[in-house]
Amino acid sequence: MNRHYRKTIIAGNWKMHKTASETVAFAAEIRGKMPENIRSEVVLCMPALNITTAQKALKGTRIAVGAETMHYEEKGAFTGEVAANMLTDLGVKYVIIGHSERRQYYNETDQSVNRKVRAALNAGLVPIVCVGESLAQREMGVTAELLAYQVMSALSGVSARELRRVVIAYEPIWAIGTGKTATAEQAQEVCEGIRTLLRKKYDARAARAVSILYGGSMNARNAAELLAMPDIDGGLIGGASLVPGDFVQIIEASRQED
Ligand code: 13P
Repeated sequence: MNRHYRKTIIAGNWKMHKTASETVAFAAEIRGKMPENIRSEVVLCMPALNITTAQKALKGTRIAVGAETMHYEEKGAFTGEVAANMLTDLGVKYVIIGHSERRQYYNETDQSVNRKVRAALNAGLVPIVCVGESLAQREMGVTAELLAYQVMSALSGVSARELRRVVIAYEPIWAIGTGKTATAEQAQEVCEGIRTLLRKKYDARAARAVSILYGGSMNARNAAELLAMPDIDGGLIGGASLVPGDFVQIIEASRQED
């Protein structure tokens, strides 16, 4: 991470976990464990249904509450969906866009991810845009090309000024929920590649201001090593963000270089 130019962000992705009651219990437990004087931004992204409950329960803790997805249309006949202004109206800042599980199970494409990114930015949200390769794609040696395609399409029509509000999360699909983490070097190589791409598409100033997160079995044990890499500016954490003690240790690990 590089605190001179960009924010360090420790983001949890709760996926389809925790009821409202479990959310309140989590908040009560983490409240007493949160480290003091942390400069990193900390956010827990969760099912939209539990956002208000979590905001109340986490009040005063420095943990923000974010969303896991949103629709690209402002409103309309889209049963079950959530619009950007429903999130901003609650005071939500961060929204995950294009998680590999959404791409895999809910037909999200590079095109719809791009529409969502632009809708999020228009609404004043900070999109955490997820990109990443499958094991087969890594083994075929097309990781860099695939990631370039995913990043470029997600950011199509996004200005340099808007880019300052974009967060990118590199999540190799083979490392998600598998306990297999990319090595710090593998993760750094890809994150550095993403920044180089941003430099070419925009400019050096815009590229160095973007926080690039790593996601994929980040945990209390491996976080410090990953976060020490120059182009890894935080984490998007699934399983370990569900356990207050583990999540706090990852937040602690982001303290290095303070
Ligand atoms: P895990 O940390 O459980 O591997 O999940 C990563 C992830 O998908 C975060 O968005």
